[in-house]
Amino acid sequence: MLSWSPLANFFWDLQCKIYFLLVGICSALKLTVPSHTVHGIEGQPLHLTVDYNFNATASEIQIIWLFEGPQSNPKYLLSSVNQTVVPDLEFQHKFTLIPPNASLLIHPLRISDEGNYIVKVNVRGNGTIAASQKIQVAVDVPVTKPIVHTEPSSGVVEYVGNITLKCTMGEGTRVVYQWMKNGKPLHAGPNYTFSSNNATLLIVPVVKEDIGNYSCLVSNPVSAMESEIIAPTIYYGPYGLRVKSDKGLNIGAVFTVDMGEVILFDCSADSNPPNTYSWIQRADNTTHVIKYGPHLEVVSDKVAQKTIDYMCRAFNNVTGKRDETHFTVVVTSVAMAFLFIWRRYQPHKVIQQKLQRRPEADYRKAHTFSGHESALDDFGIYEFVAIPDLASGPRVSSQTVHGSDFVPGQDMLSTVYEVIQHIPDQLQQDHQQCA
Ligand SMILES: *[C@@H]1O[C@H](CO)[C@@H](O)[C@H](O)[C@H]1NC(C)=O
Ligand SMILES: *[C@@H]1O[C@H](CO)[C@@H](O)[C@H](O)[C@H]1NC(C)=O
Ligand SMILES: *[C@@H]1O[C@H](CO)[C@@H](O)[C@H](O)[C@H]1NC(C)=O
Ligand SMILES: *[C@@H]1O[C@H](CO)[C@@H](O)[C@H](O)[C@H]1NC(C)=O
Ligand SMILES: *[C@@H]1O[C@H](CO)[C@@H](O)[C@H](O)[C@H]1NC(C)=O
Ligand SMILES: *[C@@H]1O[C@H](CO)[C@@H](O)[C@H](O)[C@H]1NC(C)=O
Ligand SMILES: *[C@@H]1O[C@H](CO)[C@@H](O)[C@H](O)[C@H]1NC(C)=O
Ligand SMILES: *[C@@H]1O[C@H](CO)[C@@H](O)[C@H](O)[C@H]1NC(C)=O
Ligand SMILES: *[C@@H]1O[C@H](CO)[C@@H](O)[C@H](O)[C@H]1NC(C)=O
Ligand SMILES: *[C@@H]1O[C@H](CO)[C@@H](O)[C@H](O)[C@H]1NC(C)=O
Repeated sequence: MLSWSPLANFFWDLQCKIYFLLVGICSALKLTVPSHTVHGIEGQPLHLTVDYNFNATASEIQIIWLFEGPQSNPKYLLSSVNQTVVPDLEFQHKFTLIPPNASLLIHPLRISDEGNYIVKVNVRGNGTIAASQKIQVAVDVPVTKPIVHTEPSSGVVEYVGNITLKCTMGEGTRVVYQWMKNGKPLHAGPNYTFSSNNATLLIVPVVKEDIGNYSCLVSNPVSAMESEIIAPTIYYGPYGLRVKSDKGLNIGAVFTVDMGEVILFDCSADSNPPNTYSWIQRADNTTHVIKYGPHLEVVSDKVAQKTIDYMCRAFNNVTGKRDETHFTVVVTSVAMAFLFIWRRYQPHKVIQQKLQRRPEADYRKAHTFSGHESALDDFGIYEFVAIPDLASGPRVSSQTVHGSDFVPGQDMLSTVYEVIQHIPDQLQQDHQQCA
């Protein structure tokens, strides 16, 4: 808002002093407006507020209002002397002035009323003093609530489809469009393109991260409206396939259970729509699906073989993508324990992740158990072959041995494990860099 600035004050004082020198009096007239730019709403009344004061004795006060359109010469609107108002008859019902208040009321305001309004005040006392101001008026139509259309409306597969979001609005002048995602302004980027007026947002390519609540915010100087939230359907996955068991088993972990125990396996992967899961058992070079659904129950009593290869497969029937994870259940005849060897299709990746994540404390712990200098040497894919140690007598406890929580003790005394370590080539390279 531009009001009476210090600089203007300074010049006014200067003017006053010069006037004082010339005339011998300083009969000050100060004409002020709260703002030199006013935004009005189409159809509404608009007050152009003006304030003036002077310290001379006035015999007559004259107020004049003029209008200057964008492409026209100044037009006379109305004027007053003392209490008498003389309007231009053409605009008689549109403009109101109640002297000595110099403020002008425009009612109703129309788009055609946009332009500059000039007010001049003359005060006659011993001499005549005058002052004038100019106010720029802009007229806007308020925006209506926008509507967002999604193309396609059905949903898109990530990395395959594009999404176009179109913001449409009924009314409004000088509209500015802004896209919001989860309540925050969205900026152009490699995957986001806006149309020239920002009313359309194009997402190419669509990725899982684009899932969110989108809205379109439209605004102009007199109003702002936001659309309803749109959450485009994006199909993705499966991602992060993993098998867990109710015994806390994780990829790369080894543990034992008592004979007769039931183990529940749980297969999960992130995807939209939800994956279909299948459990596959491999025996004698043949594979067959033993169960559909995310859960598998293995009853150790019923497991006839010592080694069983399992696989959980997740399939997204919309993206057409699938992922698989293998694991092996080993039943030891004496210890009546399972030893699990988990294999991923890309084992080095899994192990690399684990290398990065493991805190140093774990290495130290692992070192204590492994009995050689670097715990890094322990990484690889293990095959555990159990050799019953009949001499050591008592049955093994069902202590859970799992990951770095591995506790050597009586389990180790009763069963001799021959551990065969495989280090994939890729891992060996990584491993050398680590060492
Ligand atoms: C009017 O005001 C000016 C300064 O604002 C001052 O110098 C002058 O003396 C005043 N005149 C009267 C008549 O009060
Ligand atoms: C305005 O009022 C003053 C006194 O208040 C008077 O002397 C003067 O004649 C009036 N002017 C008009 C145009 O009525
Ligand atoms: C003049 O009129 C305007 C609007 O009608 C009002 O806001 C303002 O306070 C008035 N000024 C005086 C000095 O009465
Ligand atoms: C007006 O002028 C006369 C003579 O010039 C002077 O006597 C008088 O004081 C002035 N009045 C005011 C209010 O300045
Ligand atoms: C997605 O946009 C790209 C580039 O604009 C275009 O080549 C491709 O055909 C579009 N794909 C779909 C499914 O509209
Ligand atoms: C999107 O909106 C829905 C409800 O309108 C809300 O439950 C969800 O948490 C929102 N998502 C984000 C990422 O803000
Ligand atoms: C942009 O697209 C690329 C694939 O072309 C994707 O890897 C990346 O995550 C996307 N960025 C955002 C912010 O969505
Ligand atoms: C479009 O939006 C960007 C910010 O996302 C802004 O910098 C630009 O001025 C906008 N363009 C128009 C025409 O509103
Ligand atoms: C299993 O398959 C391999 C090659 O794929 C073959 O050499 C072997 O004889 C097969 N074993 C049986 C039991 O079919
Ligand atoms: C795709 O999978 C979903 C969820 O598992 C299922 O509801 C839907 O019927 C499947 N569609 C087809 C065509 O198989």
